[in-house]
Amino acid sequence: MNVILLGPPGAGKGTQAKRLTARYGIPQLSTGDILRKAVADGTPLGKKAKALMDAGKLVPDEIVNAIIEEALASPRAAKGFLLDGFPRTVPQATALDEMLQRRGKRIDHVIVLEVPTEVLVERLSGRATCPRCQTSYGKDSPPKRPGICDNDGEKLVVRPDDMPDRVRQRMLEYESKTALLTGYYKARGVVRPVNGVGTVDEVEKRVVQALQ
Ligand code: AP5
Ligand code: MG
Repeated sequence: MNVILLGPPGAGKGTQAKRLTARYGIPQLSTGDILRKAVADGTPLGKKAKALMDAGKLVPDEIVNAIIEEALASPRAAKGFLLDGFPRTVPQATALDEMLQRRGKRIDHVIVLEVPTEVLVERLSGRATCPRCQTSYGKDSPPKRPGICDNDGEKLVVRPDDMPDRVRQRMLEYESKTALLTGYYKARGVVRPVNGVGTVDEVEKRVVQALQ
């Protein structure tokens, strides 16, 4: 099963991707997570991406396309994948089409997580993230020990792009460049809108239903 998780910043793409990975045994391919790791490791890729990410702006298409090309070539993506945060622009979507076509694959479902802006802002202002495994914690889903990741004991951090002015910039990027991808995929009959408001369990149930 090849799935795209689409939705604005804070919609719960990463949270749901982690649930779906556990449920279906297919990997989460998150360009945001891969870029944050590159920034933390200080690699040439991380150095190129850091300023743009911190400002809440998109990094160039060529960079993320190359990341996904490499991820799709990995054996762990052979039986299916969950794309989280990619594609985000029309050129990324056409590049993805071309990559999948070369491999004889296609997208089966585009899950569009729908969450009103005021809920997104509230969620992101309360988010803490594990710098190692990238799990997000929020007001409604806190870690067992305050400030410590349940999975690996790492100290949680606040993402630099979760500052209110950067969140606004990310929303603008989403509205101007990413939201129109719903239309891009609509003609193929693969778009599954899902109400993203509710508990993480409730949203997971809706997503699973939409994937059937
Ligand atoms: P990325 O990491 O993809 O960030 P994003 O799209 O802004 O999305 P978030 O990770 O902020 O939100 P999410 O939907 O994953 O929500 P989450 O599950 O954490 O991208 C970051 C940056 O990288 C970009 O700005 C750009 O610079 C660059 N980049 C990445 N991909 C790119 C691309 N393709 N092209 C160009 N640039 C790219 O949940 C949010 C919060 O809500 C958490 O606290 C969580 O605990 C909580 N929560 C989740 N679900 C619920 C629920 N049901 N109820 C209550 N709280 C909930
Ligand atoms: Mg995320």
